Amino acid sequence: MLLDKDDERILAGEDGGTKQKMLELLVALGKVFGAERLVPIKSAQVSGASYKTIGKYGLEWLNSLDAKAVVPAVLNPIGMPRTRWQEMGVDPDFAKHQEAVVAAYARLGIALECTCTPYYLRKTSYGDHLAWSESSAVSYSNSVIGARTNREGGPGALAAALVGKTPCYGLHLAANRKPQVIVRVQADTRDWTIADYGALGYHAGKVVGNRIPFFSGINPGGDQLKALGAAMAATGSVALYHVNGVTPEAVNITFDLGGLETIGVEPDDIRGLFKEFPVDAVALGCPHCSPEELDTLARLLAGKRVTKPLYVFASQGVIDANRKVVDRIEKSGAKVYADTCMVVSPVMEQYQGIMVNSGKALAYVPDMCGGVARIGTTEECVNVATE
Ligand code: F3S
Repeated sequence: MLLDKDDERILAGEDGGTKQKMLELLVALGKVFGAERLVPIKSAQVSGASYKTIGKYGLEWLNSLDAKAVVPAVLNPIGMPRTRWQEMGVDPDFAKHQEAVVAAYARLGIALECTCTPYYLRKTSYGDHLAWSESSAVSYSNSVIGARTNREGGPGALAAALVGKTPCYGLHLAANRKPQVIVRVQADTRDWTIADYGALGYHAGKVVGNRIPFFSGINPGGDQLKALGAAMAATGSVALYHVNGVTPEAVNITFDLGGLETIGVEPDDIRGLFKEFPVDAVALGCPHCSPEELDTLARLLAGKRVTKPLYVFASQGVIDANRKVVDRIEKSGAKVYADTCMVVSPVMEQYQGIMVNSGKALAYVPDMCGGVARIGTTEECVNVATE
């Protein structure tokens, strides 16, 4: 693997033992995946931030490290909101350990934003190389922004944050970003909501698996693309997709689609996912809400009171920048939480039936929270929460 003078210096231990080990890890990863070199990254998003995931030994390992991130880096959602965890009924012993994990990352120079939507907090641009971990964030950055990242494991993303580089293989290379299957949507999608796009992603992820799909017949906006990609990453393992005439690489590059398998999607493939049954709580913000989604929610909740628990998840940065909108949402009795989500926090485990507007949550809630998930539009979710 081609290494420059800085890399050689770090590998010789001149920048300390932690950076030396981190670069050794990146070089080993690169060798496994056939990378010829390292590539400088613009930012990192580090998973393995929930104490539920990394446990005692992961925390000990973090505490043994001594270096600082050299690029902007954030964390994935953790197991509780950093403030207001008491009102979510989080076990104080868990909270103590979770706070220790967060403190360990802060010591390493990782910003205390715990979110799967880092692209709302810091500008990420077409062609940027990144080391991001969370599957929906990876899908959004690759597909909607046209940045380049593999789906990093926690240690790989942390190593990249501390070194400022990642091995250049996989989706960092243009040759590996071409469509591998065509998905032709044969439906009138003009009125489709984010829930419809989430349902499309839920279905499409199952049929395309880990291939790079090229969609035709749809014209989604930003939040709809986010919902589509998040769901495909959950039911398949799609880290990059293209939408004809919409996503930047589909617009900028003339792909050769000849010889690719074409999969048709009919309205019935999606409609069947919208089952109606009683629920006892509603959860929105998977992935974390955009400012526009918060705004829609505030408008739908105006003058209403919730009769069922309504949880909303967004990043702290988006909440802080939209405080008045968040206050309008919470006036209804809904709760808006940062740092965590319906899947990684224990809050949803107390409910049997959970209504969501997200294809990813539809896929994950049953496994991770133990409940049954129902998908509906944001408006239907609000109606159910306030009926
Ligand atoms: Fe984000 Fe949690 Fe959903 S990490 S994508 S809100 S499962």
